Amino acid sequence: MCGIIGYAGCRPAVPVVIEGLHRLEYRGYDSAGVAFAQNKYLRVIRAKGKLSALEEKLATEQITTATCAMGHTRWATHGVPAERNAHPHSSNDGALAIVHNGIIENFQELKTELTAKGHVFHSETDTEVLVNLIAECRKREPDLLYAFAAALRLAHGAYAVCLMERGAPDTFYAARMSAPLIFGIGAGENFAASDIPAFLPYTRKVIFLDDGDIVQASAKNYRILRLENLQPAAHEPQKILWDMQAAQKNGYRHFMLKEIFEQPRVIADAMAGRVSPQGDAVLLPELDDLPVPARLHIVACGTSWHAALWGRHLLESWAHIPVQTEIASEFRYRDNLPLGKGDMALVISQSGETADTLAALRMAKKQGAAAIGLCNVIGSSIAREASTVLYTQAGPEISVASTKAMCSQMLMLALMALYWQAKQDRPTDAARRKGWLDILASLPAMLEEALPAMHETARRLSRKYAQARNFFYLGRGHCFALALEGALKLKELSYIHAEGYAAGEMKHGPIALIDPAFPTFAVALDDPLFPKTKSNIEEVQARQGKVIALTNEGTGLSADDVWTVPHLPPPLAGFMVLPALQLFSYEMADYLGKDVDQPRNLAKSVTVE
Ligand code: G6P
Repeated sequence: MCGIIGYAGCRPAVPVVIEGLHRLEYRGYDSAGVAFAQNKYLRVIRAKGKLSALEEKLATEQITTATCAMGHTRWATHGVPAERNAHPHSSNDGALAIVHNGIIENFQELKTELTAKGHVFHSETDTEVLVNLIAECRKREPDLLYAFAAALRLAHGAYAVCLMERGAPDTFYAARMSAPLIFGIGAGENFAASDIPAFLPYTRKVIFLDDGDIVQASAKNYRILRLENLQPAAHEPQKILWDMQAAQKNGYRHFMLKEIFEQPRVIADAMAGRVSPQGDAVLLPELDDLPVPARLHIVACGTSWHAALWGRHLLESWAHIPVQTEIASEFRYRDNLPLGKGDMALVISQSGETADTLAALRMAKKQGAAAIGLCNVIGSSIAREASTVLYTQAGPEISVASTKAMCSQMLMLALMALYWQAKQDRPTDAARRKGWLDILASLPAMLEEALPAMHETARRLSRKYAQARNFFYLGRGHCFALALEGALKLKELSYIHAEGYAAGEMKHGPIALIDPAFPTFAVALDDPLFPKTKSNIEEVQARQGKVIALTNEGTGLSADDVWTVPHLPPPLAGFMVLPALQLFSYEMADYLGKDVDQPRNLAKSVTVE
């Protein structure tokens, strides 16, 4: 949801900023731009479309070796994707330029006031209002940092911003409120960016800025103040332990393919240190101070919500905890939140920044419930605001469509279910628990072995089904959650209309759509629900619907295409189903020539409602 970067140092700043934007492009790619000082002017260069369009434009420009610059890659909120709406935006006098991720909610009011004072606007964005508001405050305030703070106090909403001024070409300013911003401290250079990979080649020393922090940074100095009182903010720099390798393609055609193939390692990493050396107990000290929830409300968006739906089955059947799962944008606006005594919330978010999920977490806490965060991104807003946080340890996920993050969320949900099961001390569960943990421990090797054949089948089937304009995905029980994820992946990546349905629900309407051109992808594993799903598949076949059936050896299922994956007991069989669905969507999209890692209209981190 927009990526920003600011740099002040000793290197030519524009290439550093462009390189950083490449690593932030997953956050938005409707337009991009940079600002830097040149010949006593603040130059702003912007282009509609992907970063490559900006790079082409920069190649035709005379650019001096400015050592301070900032950049932006956009996911449109206010105003269509167009150069006039691209960031950086400048104040009317050209003295200030700003890049912004977020939304200024009262921008209309502010715009009216500024218009009355003579400001003119060339874009539809809230950001142009903000930069002119700062310019207005600057008229009365000799220190830009204070003028910046004064303007931010008038602006309501969410922002991560970087600001530069013509008169101070070696300095950038930055501020954060409800949108991610990380400060990077290098040797003779400083950075601020929406995400760590933007500057990781240059420094591992970071400060996770808090909401209400404002920053002034030059090559050798920086200061971080609190917006409310302009006093220094207390921060301990932290060291980032993962490296750039984790954020590179490593020979894979796309990040998505690499991330799918990383899933065996992701499972192993998520388990590391979380199972006792004897392999019979789950160690989640993050949960030790909390009782077993009387009821758990799992709240998430998108793929993370599908992980929640899947995890519900384990939490109910293994840990005997009643579970409600809800989409965060719905949960946050419920009139009477159904949080009872002893209830807890579990919010799941890969990025830890999704606005609706963050709001749901705040709602739950406001109602007095403990809110557990399950996140991938360390130091993210959800991680910091949750009562306690569990990290999925999946490493950076760059492809916009989430894959390995879901796998790691599923793994953590399985561990949580076993952890809470043990806390209830039911004698019959103990022996079974060891069995489940043994299976989890064997998963990385099993999946590693299965992935190449899965990829091959996915490739073959994609050639056969790529012309379909519609797809149903069917499943029952935990496979229903996966069917929803399969359908989401297909539509996200290949723009083919796809719907996930509970297999038993098809006959209540959707089956009317079935004809020979409307194929169905059915997940029908060898488990107690198999006979039921098989009947539903036959109902589709009876209407001349073509069927791909994802199943196990020996089920004897008959379909146009029978795709077998190694057998695992339910619900852990989900770990074999998920990569098959991901690979099928990946191959469909790639075969159709779609932009796999950056599908149209999407962004990885959705920090608006
Ligand atoms: C966006 C992404 C999805 C993701 C969803 C929730 O829509 O495109 O892939 O599942 O946000 O993101 P989160 O970071 O909260 O898991």
